[in-house]
Amino acid sequence: MERKLWSSTLIWTLNFVFALGIASSVSAQNKSEKSPGASATGALAGLGSISGTVKAPKEFKAAKVYVKNVDKNVVYMVFTDGGRYQAVDLFPGNYEVSVTKNGFTDADVQKITITSGGSATANFTLKEGTYRPNQQMRSGLPKNEPLVSYDELYPPGHARETIERTCIMCHGPDFLPNKQWDESQWNAGIDLMQNPNDNAGARLVPGTFAAGEREELVAYLVKNFGPDSKKRGLAVPDEPIDEKALGKAMFIEYHIPPLPKGDRGFHDAHLSQNGDVWYVDARGLQVGKMDPRTATWTDYPVAGPQYRGHGLTQDASGDMWMAGHTAFVRVDSKTGALKYYPYDTEAKRPPHGNTPFVDSKQNIWESLSWANEIAKWDRTTGEVSLYKTPTDNSFAYGMVMDKNDKVWLADWWRCKVTKFDPVDSQWIEYAPLSRPCTMRRVFADHNGMIWYALEWPGKIGMLDPNTNKIVEYALPVKWSFPYDIQQDHDSNYWIADSGQGGALIKFDQKSKAFTYYPYVQRTDMPKIEVSSENSIWYTTRAADSKDQALGVLYPDKSKIQTLAASY
Ligand code: HEC
Repeated sequence: MERKLWSSTLIWTLNFVFALGIASSVSAQNKSEKSPGASATGALAGLGSISGTVKAPKEFKAAKVYVKNVDKNVVYMVFTDGGRYQAVDLFPGNYEVSVTKNGFTDADVQKITITSGGSATANFTLKEGTYRPNQQMRSGLPKNEPLVSYDELYPPGHARETIERTCIMCHGPDFLPNKQWDESQWNAGIDLMQNPNDNAGARLVPGTFAAGEREELVAYLVKNFGPDSKKRGLAVPDEPIDEKALGKAMFIEYHIPPLPKGDRGFHDAHLSQNGDVWYVDARGLQVGKMDPRTATWTDYPVAGPQYRGHGLTQDASGDMWMAGHTAFVRVDSKTGALKYYPYDTEAKRPPHGNTPFVDSKQNIWESLSWANEIAKWDRTTGEVSLYKTPTDNSFAYGMVMDKNDKVWLADWWRCKVTKFDPVDSQWIEYAPLSRPCTMRRVFADHNGMIWYALEWPGKIGMLDPNTNKIVEYALPVKWSFPYDIQQDHDSNYWIADSGQGGALIKFDQKSKAFTYYPYVQRTDMPKIEVSSENSIWYTTRAADSKDQALGVLYPDKSKIQTLAASY
């Protein structure tokens, strides 16, 4: 394991902003809380339920039942267990109910009305249909192209090994086979990846290719993905199905209303003190909140593309902090008033704020991906300081602070866990056991262990900062692409994985068991959030604008106590 020490330099201090007084936060009345006398499986007050059977001419497991509230555009999804399903805690209103299962044609949609406190029934019969293998969910790939095996898509050999190490590691296997480029176009693509002056810096650093490797790679790309080739994707194995676990679970996706003009595109979501779920609409240039008790949305437009957001956090006063491209963006969670605290107005490239965090003194910290820096907004002085990460072109991505106010960064491109100690300004870098690799996010668990997710090569890892020991666990399905990992309050870990077209995965470290919960729609999600009741929140980042939703998985729908979501 690499272990390097670096002394830090404080680079700039600028934009003195006065700290505002800390307002006390008033928690909103919980509109849909379970009454104290409600039974364990009882519905929340004022909500309804639906149940029924699903039959088919041949055996199947865990069909997906979609229960869509058309008035509020909220979609509940449950799985069948032994051919039966149940969805609970539904808003009263008009519904469309449908069933899908790969290998069968979809059953006809049934229109149902659900009343407050009422329970409806809808039964379905599936007909035999065609089976389509899973496909990875990476940005920019088509959804209906033929899917083939890895060896067919990428004929084996030295050039394939180079491609895995230099392109697929970041782009996934479906990106290159959909280009159909000639030699000059492939060369331009590689030049772009090597360009140190590009917005985000160089993806491929000098020394990536040994002599002759780049030429061999280009010849391989032209031969297999040239102008005469056909668009294809990689056929990915099915995820394992635990029908008993899936039968207990329920997903809810709250669809955001469209903007009058322009596209929606979520990045991160964040739970809050009063139970609202906050979101960053990066494409639509909004930050906002959604009350899951009523499915009501409030957007706050940011002042321009230079403040496009990424991640969110909340300070003790209740203010939300969004990592914007060029500034900390502070949102008064009651009035929606926005304030901007720029990182560095003279930087050559936009710093691209990624993940904000609050320390124990209520200072705000952020990772700045394009600048390869972390930024601190000081609560007492209002000053913004920047600290340069030890490795250039690291693309400082996910970030957390542990209980002792130490900063932990995921170095996406150079793939290291990077620690920063604000007390003595020392950096330490830890290399994962599996290299080469790409790492999006890190997480500090309840025992102070640091977890990371490696998209490539599909593993999760745990670093013990006391002993510097690392263990890694491979995901059981080939072509996994784990993005984030978080812990719930029962000591399970939850992983967001776009590898099979999208799944949330529960990992039990004691038994080493992985339980898959396939997504509602085909998408990836950037970051997951675990609520105080162990529900797992996410956004549908890669979905089309019209399908963008805030989603939540309740692993056990009989235990839902409230639709509100706090930590
Ligand atoms: C360290 C991660 C990383 C590696 C390695 C990498 N890329 Fe990229 N590449 C990216 C990211 C992120 C983007 C998209 C953002 C952008 O365009 O700035 C991108 C964009 C591109 C684009 C332009 C976007 C498009 O759809 O046309 C091309 C072409 C491309 N990569 C080709 C390659 C090829 C070929 C390789 C291998 C030789 C490669 N990349 C290796 C991260 C990487």
